[in-house]
Amino acid sequence: MSLYKELEEDLKEIIKKAGFEEENISLTPSNRKDLGEYQLNDAMQLVKVYHNNPREIANSIVKELENDKRFVNINIAGPGFINFTLSEEYKVEIINKMHDNLFNNIDKQEKKKIIIDYGGANVAKALHVGHLRSADIGEALKRLANLVGYEAIGDAHLGDYGRPLGLVVLEIKKLYPNLSYFDENYTGDYSEVELPITNADLERIYPEASNKARVDEEYLDEAREITKKIQSHTRGYYDIWKKIVEISKEDIKKVYKELNVNFELWYGESDAMEYFPELEKIYRDNNILSLSEGAEVVNVSSEDDKTEIPPLLFIRTNKTVSYETTDLATILQRKKEENPDEIWYVVDARQSLHFEQVFRAARRAKLVNDNVVLEHIGFGTMNGKDGHPFKTRDGGVMPLKTLIDMVNEETLKKITNESMTDEEKKKTSRIVAIAALKYADLLPFRGTDYIFDPAKFADLEGKTGPYLLYSTIRMKSLLNKAKNLSQEKAKILPGKTEQDIAVTILNLPITIKRAIDTKSLNEIADYLYNITSLYNKFYAENKVLIEENKDKQESWLVLTKVVYDINMLLLKTLGIEVPEKM
Ligand code: ARG
Repeated sequence: MSLYKELEEDLKEIIKKAGFEEENISLTPSNRKDLGEYQLNDAMQLVKVYHNNPREIANSIVKELENDKRFVNINIAGPGFINFTLSEEYKVEIINKMHDNLFNNIDKQEKKKIIIDYGGANVAKALHVGHLRSADIGEALKRLANLVGYEAIGDAHLGDYGRPLGLVVLEIKKLYPNLSYFDENYTGDYSEVELPITNADLERIYPEASNKARVDEEYLDEAREITKKIQSHTRGYYDIWKKIVEISKEDIKKVYKELNVNFELWYGESDAMEYFPELEKIYRDNNILSLSEGAEVVNVSSEDDKTEIPPLLFIRTNKTVSYETTDLATILQRKKEENPDEIWYVVDARQSLHFEQVFRAARRAKLVNDNVVLEHIGFGTMNGKDGHPFKTRDGGVMPLKTLIDMVNEETLKKITNESMTDEEKKKTSRIVAIAALKYADLLPFRGTDYIFDPAKFADLEGKTGPYLLYSTIRMKSLLNKAKNLSQEKAKILPGKTEQDIAVTILNLPITIKRAIDTKSLNEIADYLYNITSLYNKFYAENKVLIEENKDKQESWLVLTKVVYDINMLLLKTLGIEVPEKM
């Protein structure tokens, strides 16, 4: 149990001693710091049960609080709001318990297994800004879920199945018609056939093919045919598809690695299609499919829908399957292979209709038990200064690599540490750029759009990744310089700022709980900024290394270590790497 929860439990006992029973006590950090550090609003709640005057209830609770040395400056405000402050000794105790183990102030949740579907990169297409958000938020949610004791695993769910691949293969066929992949008479082993194409070629080929298909009906038809050939494992076409997936996946893995994003499962949509025959049988046996203009669909509308939810396209007229159907097959696959309690989809909010259709169709066929949670965790867009989704100059989607380069240009200007070689500076700048981008991405509530502003993201002041990294590295360097001084136990914390830090530390579980409840990292990003700026205030007010009062000095060092550890833990949870120096 966290220290914060323990405090709540103790307060419950105190209220009981005063003669009242309260199941959920309402301890909150005060927003009137002049009245106290915490506020207890229970007297107002208890009135409903005990019908006393709230002031009387508050008075009896205050009497009990006064018997406990942990609480000071106890007062009642308004009709019965109790305010109090924590004693210095109690704060010292909190710091020491955290010094022993940070997990002393993190609540563990009951175990459940969660598959988090995030990343969602598409094979043979460059990763773009939408994939960045999915990767950042998904990875951090996964780390957060594991931090609180869930068993969360990430699945990249690569888009390797649909028409885009048909288009890419068609365009390659136009460019290299003589490749043996397209030669019906070829009988050799395709795994030995070279494909003269790099990932950079693929990233160029797809947009070209897609533009052609937009204006050329015949070309599009050809691509459809090829998609069908790939999906039905036609020799040659299926083999070149496999090669393309391999080439592209290697590059995708590199990008995710640099972003500090790791998946336990590297499945693609195509892997789920092994379950398609079984899926199809379930839908047929239960008479869930209906015919619609030659295609087979699942009706998913419900009487109380306010807006119409169109049917889910299960099998197209030409017998290929849609993105919806691969998602259904994936649910079946996950149920069979991992049997999770929950599946979270960290995907652009603009895909909400897609997930509504998929979840309803899955429920109709009972692909998972009713108590299994299927949740779309949508996110907003990253916009340009004009307020519209961030685009390249010619209106295309912004490739992720360009985005990182743009932030890197800014962070490179900030790395001025003279002890570093140019090579080191460059390497550090990349790490800082990614931190800057990720922090900016996680700072707003996930559903909110935000503006891409590389200069602001890279700033060493304000709510930015570089500010957090710089400050955290400085804490470590202080601890290193103090290596020969005692750093065992906090003894006194007389200053106001250090007391505020202790309270912030005690409040950590509130932040973690909100983050888990909202499945958004913004509270954690904010918390990191708050504790870091408080610490920096403390750092500016005190000269730790030359302090003569040894008890004070040791306490300060322990406090520094705890803040440093919390920062490292939370930055890691956000998937942000801290460089050695900067
Ligand atoms: N590949 C998709 C895209 O780029 C995202 C996949 C999201 N996950 C899912 N299970 N549908 O839009």
